[in-house]
Amino acid sequence: MSEWITLEQIDHTCDVIASKIHTKPRIGLILGSGLGDLADLVENADVIPYNELPNWPLPTIQGHKGRLVVGGLDNQSVLVMQGRTHYYEGPTMGQVTFPIRVMQRLGIEILIVTNAAGAIHPEYVPGDVMLLTDHINLVGMTGLNPLRGPNLDVFGERFPDMSQPYDRELQQKCRDVAKSADMTLREGVYAWLSGPSFESPADLRFLRAGGADAVGMSTVPEVIVARHGKTRVLGLSGISNKANLDGSTVTTHAEVLEAGKILVPKLTTLIRGVLRSL
Ligand code: HPA
Repeated sequence: MSEWITLEQIDHTCDVIASKIHTKPRIGLILGSGLGDLADLVENADVIPYNELPNWPLPTIQGHKGRLVVGGLDNQSVLVMQGRTHYYEGPTMGQVTFPIRVMQRLGIEILIVTNAAGAIHPEYVPGDVMLLTDHINLVGMTGLNPLRGPNLDVFGERFPDMSQPYDRELQQKCRDVAKSADMTLREGVYAWLSGPSFESPADLRFLRAGGADAVGMSTVPEVIVARHGKTRVLGLSGISNKANLDGSTVTTHAEVLEAGKILVPKLTTLIRGVLRSL
């Protein structure tokens, strides 16, 4: 695949998906590292392994099953990505965000995106869920914006607004669900770094000074492409570890996957509550 994704490639993949599913999905869900179990709740599911989909980026890391699950959840028709591909795994930015384009051409209106993240905010601890209120596109600021290259006019304009990456109404619905479930819901700004190395203590102090509350290696490119196409977004981070601003502890992928076990039930409650409210 060349660096730039074409509408023909997107529509070809849409056709393949359309031929394998029985519902027209309205909501897209991306389940991040260690957070894929929610897909098992989808009813009347059509399951499509990513390797059956032309042009689809294939995840290479543990904790990502790599399949699409399409069906019903809480009276909504959903398309769930059980696992995602990150930029650090090697694809181009266009390939990383290709699934969002496919969702948009399939008619999806709302994207719910989850990720595992390290806490920068001093009060946030592993097992917390953080509602994304904004993000810092650090990778984009240095030139790697997923919208770089020819603009696909059918989706959106050359210079899309990014004043509200995360939909305010969806944020409020999520707060309401947390409140009625008596669940603590953190809120804040997610900073995107490419990874795969975790941050140095000085990286983290820099991010903290810049207003980040959590840090991770995904989500922001997908959200930018979603917003380019006017898809409404709800973003949730599962805090898997405390980012270590003084260098006194070590961060591991095993820790990230372990925290997923505590986080899945919380994220499931929040996401299902929001789906019911739509
Ligand atoms: N840093 C970056 N990405 C992450 C982290 C982290 O501490 N935890 C989970 N994903």
